[in-house]
Amino acid sequence: MSSQSPVVMLDVAAQNGPLSDKLRAVFARVLESGRFILGPEVTALEAELAAVVGVPHALGVSSGTDALLVALMALGVGVGDEVITTPFTFFATAGSIARLGARPVFVDIDPVTFNLDPVAVQAAITPRTRAIMPVHLFGQPCDMRALGRIAQAHSVFVVEDAAQALGATTEDGAVGSLGELGCFSFFPSKNLGGFGDAGLVTTKDAELAERARVLRGHGAKPKYFHALVGGNFRIDALMAALLRVKLPQLPAYTAARRENAARYDALFAAADLGPRLTTPARVEAGHVYNQYVIRTPKRDQLAAHLSQHGIETAIYYPKSLHEQGCFADLGYATGDFPESERASREVLALPIYGELPPASLERVADEVIGFLRQS
Ligand SMILES: Cc1ncc(COP(=O)(O)O)c(C=O)c1O
Repeated sequence: MSSQSPVVMLDVAAQNGPLSDKLRAVFARVLESGRFILGPEVTALEAELAAVVGVPHALGVSSGTDALLVALMALGVGVGDEVITTPFTFFATAGSIARLGARPVFVDIDPVTFNLDPVAVQAAITPRTRAIMPVHLFGQPCDMRALGRIAQAHSVFVVEDAAQALGATTEDGAVGSLGELGCFSFFPSKNLGGFGDAGLVTTKDAELAERARVLRGHGAKPKYFHALVGGNFRIDALMAALLRVKLPQLPAYTAARRENAARYDALFAAADLGPRLTTPARVEAGHVYNQYVIRTPKRDQLAAHLSQHGIETAIYYPKSLHEQGCFADLGYATGDFPESERASREVLALPIYGELPPASLERVADEVIGFLRQS
């Protein structure tokens, strides 16, 4: 074990500490208000986030997972439907499709961006396809123009899983504004990290927004009269109020992540390690680096080496979703999506959070370079 201080993947205290007085004041305000579920804090947060994403409608919900579920429910996705998505993502993406009785149809990723390959999406369209669910993985926007063209040609919906990409932009606008619905997460490790579980659904469509709003509260409209079967997908007032304290800092958080990514990029480029190290591609200038993910054939050895030197890393994701036991009945086999499978063997996320001290970042880069040079 290294004698130097550890380098962690995320230090939430470093981010929240400077806001501590404001956060405590907000806590007191909500406590005194006695209004703990939905209400004016939630409405205000929704308006602020709608402006950030560039849509007229935003709906605070209980988690990013529930955002995906509500979005698919609002579109009426269910038994007999297919939703095309990536096998290289967090479980919730496909889990939300399967929970509604629909079939997740996996297609392989583009190895450069780790995002859905539009050519593979096109090939997977069938008469049962209801939606495409791209994931802006690690904060990098998908090729939404290509996906939008496919969706339009086949009259299918696009639901963006933007859980990792709040603030990410493309030439055509921010993620979450580019499909029928967008879904975000405020899990503490996300770019706008909350204080527990919370999420957001965004849309330009007033009717979809209203359906999602009704579904969020058990499908009741008015109260106790249920036209739809919804659930309890509500966000707490306290969560909304605390998130509102952090939201004005989002541009600074994003800038710090980008600076860290640029610093890693420069250090790794100067080391010139060839095929031993692949740094993240930046296809769109609007990448927000929720994660900085390198790839190397020596991934496991490198992760062990870094751990021995007190440096935390993470593997997003060690097993593709088509290989998960719970999806065995979908009939996929290992080998079906070679790029996703290769990525799950080669990827390693390095610490990238905005408050990462520059000296720690340099230590991480030095250890990565030192190890891969010898290997
Ligand atoms: C790509 C992706 N989709 C969905 C989710 C689910 O979000 P949550 O953890 O807020 O339910 C996450 C994050 O955990 C995610 O990274």
